[in-house]
Amino acid sequence: MNKYILVTGGAGYIGSHTVVALQKQGFIPVIADDFRNANPVVLEGLRHILGHETIVHRVDICDKPAMEALFEKYAFTGVIHFAAYKAVGESVQKPLAYYQNNLVGLLNILALIEAFEVQNFVFSSSCTVYGEPQGAKEVSEATPKQLPESPYGYTKWMGEQIIADFHRSAPQLKLMNLRYFNPVGAHPSARIGEFPIGKPNNLLPFVTQTAIGKQAHLTVFGNDYPTRDGSCIRDYIHVMDLAEAHVAALTYLMNQNEGLLEAVNIGTGEGTSVLEIVKAFERITGQPLPHVLGPRRAGDVIEIYANATKGQELLGWKARLSIDDAIKDAWAWENYLATL
Ligand code: NAD
Ligand code: UD1
Repeated sequence: MNKYILVTGGAGYIGSHTVVALQKQGFIPVIADDFRNANPVVLEGLRHILGHETIVHRVDICDKPAMEALFEKYAFTGVIHFAAYKAVGESVQKPLAYYQNNLVGLLNILALIEAFEVQNFVFSSSCTVYGEPQGAKEVSEATPKQLPESPYGYTKWMGEQIIADFHRSAPQLKLMNLRYFNPVGAHPSARIGEFPIGKPNNLLPFVTQTAIGKQAHLTVFGNDYPTRDGSCIRDYIHVMDLAEAHVAALTYLMNQNEGLLEAVNIGTGEGTSVLEIVKAFERITGQPLPHVLGPRRAGDVIEIYANATKGQELLGWKARLSIDDAIKDAWAWENYLATL
């Protein structure tokens, strides 16, 4: 069996770390990315970490003939499908662009894996499919999904629905939805990481940009929630652990003899509050973090974290790195970015 794995969106934040993890396990990742939300510097970072060039095709995944040519060229063993738009706020402003890119891209890839009989497929889903958990804040894959709050959330929710319907029509294929919680951190070499474009929406890039002086202060969005310190709680997963989860998922799929569809939570199983992140950042880096307590952000979930046992039982995967590791690596990455 050849070892070519198509990684759509492989030049992006999670994709680039997954390329490293795939290569480490002897796979040959083939990136399909048109760099609409990636910085070409990532290729230098990958060269530095891996010691060689990575196969990259600058292609729009919505361009089906161009994608078909890639499937013809490589006879992929598996596909990991990251390429999508991912900003919640922007999706409210540009819903059509989000549905177009995230759904047409997925439809193209599914049609091609069926046509080319690629058996193994992993989809980037999100804990956003659970919405605000009713009752227990720890959610397992059996927790009922809820309708999302944003067009972005709907693209993941619909993506899972499309994959479920596709599975019924092509039951011989092996398909997996990985529901990521909150990816954070960077490769420990600090040569690849996240490149937020414009003002970051996500917490940790905002924290590191504040500490380095790119932002005046962090606003903690709400301190009157019914949580242990009043701020929201999330399950922050180190991007290196997340990358390894993809390799574990792919390996699991490749070892199965029958078609299947599974969803697996990819989180640590532990919740951390915004104020705990602030304190941890100051403790780990020794940097003061200017922050103010501000109003709640519309649409925020109060508290959610993963029940991560299925990942361990099914895939033999569990998170190894801590939030402290993620903060240290994110801070090193922010400092590296300042040198570019
Ligand atoms: P990212 O924006 O860094 O990476 C996505 C990559 O896809 C980018 O390199 C972009 O250039 C590429 N891309 C987008 N549309 C494309 C197209 N039509 N053709 C070719 N390339 C295209 O995002 P990320 O954080 O690495 O997220 C990867 C996936 O994980 C996305 O599907 C995202 O929705 C999902 N996800 C991310 C998070 C998160 O917090 N980062 C959480 C849950 C799920
Ligand atoms: C958000 C999306 C989620 C998406 C994820 C990845 C919402 C409601 N959810 O998750 O669907 O998958 O991004 O892109 O938008 N915070 C601050 N100050 C800041 C930034 C964030 O206090 O400047 C807080 C937020 O209120 C939240 C926590 O930090 O409590 C994490 O926020 P963020 O990184 O944006 O992720 P989510 O909201 O969990």
